[in-house]
Amino acid sequence: MAMQSPYDQVTKGYVATRPRYPDQWFSKLSALTSRHALAWDAGTGNGQAAIAVAEHYERVIATDISEPMLKQGIPHPRVQYLHTPPSLSEDEMVAMLGGENSVDLITVATAVHWFDIPKFYSVARRVLCKPGGVIAVWTYTDMIEVNPEFEHILRRLREACKPYQKPGAQYFFEEYRNLPFPFESVGLGCEGQPAQLEMPREMSFETLLSVLRTASAVATAKQHGVDLLTDDVVKEFETAWGGSDLVRTVKFKVFMLAGTVKA
Ligand SMILES: C[S@@+](CC[C@H](N)C(=O)[O-])C[C@H]1O[C@@H](n2cnc3c(N)ncnc32)[C@H](O)[C@@H]1O
Repeated sequence: MAMQSPYDQVTKGYVATRPRYPDQWFSKLSALTSRHALAWDAGTGNGQAAIAVAEHYERVIATDISEPMLKQGIPHPRVQYLHTPPSLSEDEMVAMLGGENSVDLITVATAVHWFDIPKFYSVARRVLCKPGGVIAVWTYTDMIEVNPEFEHILRRLREACKPYQKPGAQYFFEEYRNLPFPFESVGLGCEGQPAQLEMPREMSFETLLSVLRTASAVATAKQHGVDLLTDDVVKEFETAWGGSDLVRTVKFKVFMLAGTVKA
């Protein structure tokens, strides 16, 4: 099978260790849409956002370009997982999502920067209910706040990752400040000014390493035979972390933009 996504080779580690988004974000987003019949979670991965959205909507369609990721989809009676290969046309995607004006909420959690953005937004505009439908995109970044020494090592790793970054990674590193977002603000970030949120998470050193190993550029470098997380680098992280047995509460920074289709 051809590789579709930078996460294809690291799905298990990815699913086991990535942070869960707080429930109150989904209550907040759900309060912004007028109807609650259908939601679409794009770039769903293992569906962690999809199942949270399903608490507020009658049905959720969860899509991803990666079949290995979809195989990890958390089963939920109201969530339908569908594969969307890049060959799918806009019309086919619109039909798959129930046609024009059918989706109340679109969520894209830590994924839109990998998409063919013009194509995705074009489909989003067509399927969103008008008026009343809302699209929300967000990402957490790799700059996990621990202490200055730790952040210094992270920055160095980020530099080493540069040759292996896929197109779109710059949006992520720029914290979505330059992400195109041609939608009307609903008071939760807007184009050029993402809302900044925080996601606290208890993390062991092992989990931290897994998060770093499953980062897209680190995984891509590995596929090219380059190990960016050598024993020496791991040792440096371990020292800055405070030892491999320490469990820390760390903060992930999150950047979110939400909007409706411009009239
Ligand atoms: C960082 S993961 C996020 C997964 C999930 N939304 C979460 O927050 O845990 C990014 C996901 O986007 C998917 N992806 C990448 N490019 C895509 C595209 N063009 N269309 C749909 N999904 C894509 C990847 O396969 C991966 O599952």
